[in-house]
Amino acid sequence: MSDNRVWTLRAYPEGLDFPSAIFLDRQAMPVPAEGQVTIAADWLSLDAGTRMWMTPRTDSYQPPIPLGSAVPGQVLGRVLESRAPGFAPGDLVRAFGQWADVSCVDPLTSGLTKLDATVTDPRLHLGPLGMNGWTALVGIEEMARTQPGETVLVSAAAGATGMLAAQIARVLGARVIGIAGGPTKCAFLIDELGLDAAIDHRDPDVEAAIARAAPDGINVYFENVGGPLLDAVLSNMAHYGRIAICGLMANYAQAQPGPQRFDQILARRLQVTGFFSPDFAHRGPELTARLRGWTDAGKLVTPFDETAGLENVLSAYARLFTGANIGKVVVRVS
Ligand SMILES: NC(=O)c1ccc[n+]([C@@H]2O[C@H](COP(=O)([O-])OP(=O)(O)OC[C@H]3O[C@@H](n4cnc5c(N)ncnc54)[C@H](OP(=O)(O)O)[C@@H]3O)[C@@H](O)[C@H]2O)c1
Repeated sequence: MSDNRVWTLRAYPEGLDFPSAIFLDRQAMPVPAEGQVTIAADWLSLDAGTRMWMTPRTDSYQPPIPLGSAVPGQVLGRVLESRAPGFAPGDLVRAFGQWADVSCVDPLTSGLTKLDATVTDPRLHLGPLGMNGWTALVGIEEMARTQPGETVLVSAAAGATGMLAAQIARVLGARVIGIAGGPTKCAFLIDELGLDAAIDHRDPDVEAAIARAAPDGINVYFENVGGPLLDAVLSNMAHYGRIAICGLMANYAQAQPGPQRFDQILARRLQVTGFFSPDFAHRGPELTARLRGWTDAGKLVTPFDETAGLENVLSAYARLFTGANIGKVVVRVS
């Protein structure tokens, strides 16, 4: 490799118009400074949450990505060069790097982690055995305190985080309803994930569809979407229900007012908790061990939506927002 291809944010995108804002530059191959490591990417993880950092919003959980800098993202690959103790060329690693052929990272700030190379499909380190898995497990078990026999509703249930939250809730003994866009995804939720019911959020009356699927109310809502969907759920929550706010995708490109039915939090005595995976990333080994047990036992179905080629990152990224993906969106870099 003579030079490094790097996706650079030149402007904050309008809606899904990523090509007018993010450009593939060619730069000199990075050389690690003392304490740094370079990683040659095999796969990139594409994550919906990054969209919020691609706006000038300063009220998010991360500051905006500075214009002119590389787009950050999780990278899975091999150490190319190391000037940090504990990492050697050829090690299989994961880190918050850049959308690039080669990322240069600081081990501590990037969460650089050496990975178990015996896992048969390395991509699992970007889905169930990584941030998506930790988020789903902590959200369902600790934030929502899901109990056996309870009714759990999960939005974006055919996506990377939602499909894990839904399946973990089932493993914990809950009755699980998934929300997804379109009949193919709803069939996937029932036939492949084994959920108890599926609701198409394109249904003109989602509120009534939720009421039909959960006549006694929703005990736990694992929220990935927000916007009007959250209002349709609020009026269907059971008394003393819990809402774990994992994400609010409908609000990322543009903040939306709401929810309109905020009063239902009082009326139904709900608990609403927001949570963010970097807060529990230090528990990665413990959480990964539990998730590995379930994946090895075949209890978690974890499809990937893979696109080949770093040059195709933008079309792969748009799939998260058009709902084209089933499962974890990744890009194969080399
Ligand atoms: N709190 C944390 O630490 C944390 C960590 C990881 C992820 N997350 C959150 O988890 C959520 C999912 O992220 P992901 O990266 O795993 O993506 P994903 O679920 O694999 O893909 C996103 C899915 O969301 C659905 N969607 C998109 N816009 C929608 C809308 N306006 N209304 C309804 N559904 C919509 C689409 O499915 P349909 O076809 O079903 O519409 C799409 O497939 C995001 O909110 C993200 O921010 C949070």
